[in-house]
Amino acid sequence: MADIILGIESSCDDTSAAVIRDGYLLSNVIASQDVHRSFGGVVPELASRAHELNIVPVVSEALSRAGVKASDLTAIAFTRGPGLLGSLLVGTSFAKAMGLALDIPIVMVNHLQGHILAGFVKQEGVPVRQPSFPYICLLVSGGNSQIVRVDDPLHFEILGQTIDDAVGEAFDKCSKMMGLGYPGGPIIDKFAKQGDPLRFKFAKPNVPGLDYSFSGIKTSLLYFVRDEIAKDPDFMEKNKEDICASFQKALIDILMDKLVKAVKQTGIREVAIGGGVSANSGLRNRISEEGKKRGWNTYLPEFKFTTDNAAMIAIAGYYHYLAGERTSLDVAPVSRMADF
Ligand code: KG4
Repeated sequence: MADIILGIESSCDDTSAAVIRDGYLLSNVIASQDVHRSFGGVVPELASRAHELNIVPVVSEALSRAGVKASDLTAIAFTRGPGLLGSLLVGTSFAKAMGLALDIPIVMVNHLQGHILAGFVKQEGVPVRQPSFPYICLLVSGGNSQIVRVDDPLHFEILGQTIDDAVGEAFDKCSKMMGLGYPGGPIIDKFAKQGDPLRFKFAKPNVPGLDYSFSGIKTSLLYFVRDEIAKDPDFMEKNKEDICASFQKALIDILMDKLVKAVKQTGIREVAIGGGVSANSGLRNRISEEGKKRGWNTYLPEFKFTTDNAAMIAIAGYYHYLAGERTSLDVAPVSRMADF
């Protein structure tokens, strides 16, 4: 009999539900929350309230688009953490209630494992191209920046991670600082395409091993913009494309330096990326170019699987389900999950 998994994701500001059958995607519905835009960042209380409003229609829509009834489901996979506690509580409580009502198992998923495994969601009519194990995943999102060794869908080792801000945070905070808007990543990416990446230079961090730091470059940009605006109040408007291109290049250089080091250290040449920042066009191009130059096999997720979505939670949950894992109904969400 087929295994039909409902995935539920509510860790931040996207309410999402997806259905997969034996690893193949049947539906993936995402309700994004525009309510945060005017605040320049996610407001946790507003996010929880929007999840509460969205969760029932989003799950109903996912089932209907998949053409399955709730009674057809084999199990429910849900994001337990990391994320905003109030947001996670909505998805977790919903999964528990639905699992109890249907008398089917629930399976908790680490949101970061979901991002890492997003490329394993199979789609009817789309050729399957997945990394072979072990592989290295550069996980880059609004909350995390990590280099992870993936030995199989259930075993992960963090080789390096940020010691302060995540790279997505650097994109978002710097965009806000420059008055360009929120979320910053896609906006900076768009302007960067029209700018000169070699025009301005920003301070690079000096962090040992495979760890990252992105707080210094943020400060470097802040002082640079402040000093230039003092000389010419229109500096930002006149130069935003070049600033974005140069800033984005600096972030990508930082990411790539450690990724290259990780590949050298481990000898693993299967390299994937995941997380919201993996939608960045500059990063995608650089990974592909470096891969060709250095003889890596590189794997870029489809855009729809880069930002938060329940398809990645469903596929991660599917592997846990196949391994016999079941989550007890007394499980509570957690905002931080230190390790895998
Ligand atoms: O994975 P995600 O949806 O949420 C977290 O789990 O954090 O990632 C959101 C992050 C935001 O910081 C957003 O600015 C960034 O992904 N992002 C991008 C791009 N699209 C989204 N960053 C750079 N370039 C993009 N095109």
